[in-house]
Parts: sequence; C-alpha cells; structure tokens
Amino acid sequence: MENKRTYTTEEILSSQVYDEPLIANDVRCHGGFDSEGIYQSPRTLFRTPAIQAWQNQLAEEGAALIEIAPNLMPPQYPSAEQAKLLLRNGIREPLVRTLTIISIVEGFGAMIRDVKIPDLDELIVEPIEGTALHHLGQGLFEAHARDESGYRDEGGHKQMWEAARDAALENPNIPGDVLMRLMGRRGSAQRPGPAFPEIGEAAERMLGFMSNVLVVEVIAERTFRWGIDVLSDPEISAAPEVAGNMVRNIQADEKPHVEYLRTALSEVAARTLNTVDGKTIPGKTVIDGLLHRTLSQMIRNRPGDQRDDIREGLKQAMQAAQNPAALQDDFDALEPVWTAPAKTGFEPAALGA
Ligand SMILES: [Fe+2]
Ligand SMILES: [Fe+2]
Repeated sequence: MENKRTYTTEEILSSQVYDEPLIANDVRCHGGFDSEGIYQSPRTLFRTPAIQAWQNQLAEEGAALIEIAPNLMPPQYPSAEQAKLLLRNGIREPLVRTLTIISIVEGFGAMIRDVKIPDLDELIVEPIEGTALHHLGQGLFEAHARDESGYRDEGGHKQMWEAARDAALENPNIPGDVLMRLMGRRGSAQRPGPAFPEIGEAAERMLGFMSNVLVVEVIAERTFRWGIDVLSDPEISAAPEVAGNMVRNIQADEKPHVEYLRTALSEVAARTLNTVDGKTIPGKTVIDGLLHRTLSQMIRNRPGDQRDDIREGLKQAMQAAQNPAALQDDFDALEPVWTAPAKTGFEPAALGA
C-alpha cells in the first residue's frame, strides 16, 4: 500500500467509516469522528497515502517539492483584536460580513472541477504514470471541489464556516449585499494576459488556476488561526468549543489540498513541456513564472481588498456603539502592520538570485 502510486477515482474519493458524523448548528457536514473522537477529514482513506507516495517518488528522483514561504501571508483584516473589540462593543456586522465572505470564497473552490485538463501526455515530454498529475482528473479535482462546497446532503467548507459563524454569533442577520459586492470587486479585477502562450491556452489556464489555488490555500492558514482565535474566545463567542473546533476541522481538511497541488506542480516543474510550435520549455520556468505572478498579485492586492470589504460599511456599523468616535479610534489603533516581503522566492532566474 505504501508505494502504491496508481488509484481509481473511486478510491481517491472514498472516506473512512466514521463512528460519528460531524453535525454543527444542525448542519450535517462532511468528515466525522473515529472511535477515539478524533476528527477524520473526508475522502482521505486513499488520498492521503497516495499524496505521500507521490511525494516520496519526487524525493527519490531528487526533485524539489514546492514550498511557499509563510512570511508571504498577509494578515487577516480586521485582525482578531479588532474583531473582538467590535464584538465586545456589540458591533457584529463587520465580522458577520468577513465570515460570510470566507464561506463564499470557500464555495468558489468547487470551480476546480470545471477546469479543463489538457492532454497531459501530449503536453509533458516525460511519462506521468503514477503521479498526482495523472490523478487530477481521476478524483483529485473532484474531491477538492466536494470538500469546499459540499456534496449531496453533506456540507463542505462553505456550510462549515456558515455553521461556525451562526453558532458563535447566534444566527446573526446576514447582510444581503455580501456576494454582490464581492463579485463587483472581483469582476473589475484585470485578468492578466497569457504569461506562457507557447504552452497553449488550456495548459496555461490549468496550471495558472492550480498555482492560484495553491497560494490561496497556503494563505488561508492565517485565516484559520484568526478564525480559531476569534470564534473560540468565550468572551465574544456563544459557542467557543463548537465554532472553534469547526474551524480546526476545516483547517485539517485543507492539508490534502495544499499537498496534492504542490505535488502536482512540483511534478510539472521536474519535467519538460512541449510547446505548440514544436519546441520545449522547462516545466520549472513555467511553474516558477506562474507562482511568482500569482504571489506578487496576492501580496499586492489582498490586504487592501480585505480592508476595502470591511472599511466601506464600518463607520455606519459603529453608529450602534455607545461612543462611535472612541470605538473608531480604538479600532484604528489596532490596525495590523504588515510589510510585504521583497521577494516571492519564485523570481525568474534572470531577475532573481
Ligand atoms: Fe476549504
Ligand atoms: Fe481548500
């Protein structure tokens, strides 16, 4: 089993048998608990050993496994301290908004099942038997999509964040404009032109999407720590244990996402790609280029985007406080300070070093 590198789609999608299902705020969620009460992520019975085997193979070949430096993660806005300050003053709307945005973005993860996979045997010079790459369309994308947005009668991360929010903040009113504002801002963001037209549109789109999702998944780690900090604080959370543990469960489920994505991208980076005009390009050039681009964008835009999402309605939300002006001052004094790192670690060779 340890060195088994080829799996069926059914295997990749199968879960262990749970002793008890995960239910939160009356929502049946994916995953469950073993006989010792330890949470087991869904669809990991074969997926976890498979990813380990593919990573072992990379190591045996002497190929590097992509690492994204933790200092590239911008802080969550509002910070945990700011969020708690608002809640202590009875102001819930901004946090409800933040948590709702997080749940919506989790649900967007389901888009990965719609990514068109080009003919990888045609694209990649070396064989891809028994790799994560070979299994993208055989369960890996589908498992990821189900984890994020739920499947059939089981909630996924979208529903799990909603349950955590509703348990901690006692079924708050959800502002009606969250999705619209989010889409408005995203829709106006410029889509970059192709960085590697020579590998063809479908290949760049898939590898670009995977790079983007990998970066989002790594950055999300900070959001989980923030969520656990805020929602498990008994001073402001009505369900510190339920809500905090829910975020911990989601956090555990993300591990296979980060791991399969960085494995598959590392497999491409260790290989050679055929170009549409009959030449070749090192996979590493393409993967480093795509990761550098997406990391640079994220570092540049994400802190401001999150701030804009919240600051827009903040003043109005604070009017419900006893002393709005003093609260605003206290809130601003807690503004997170973050200096973007100078390098992503994936700079093109000519510019980097
Ligand atoms: Fe997720
Ligand atoms: Fe994820």
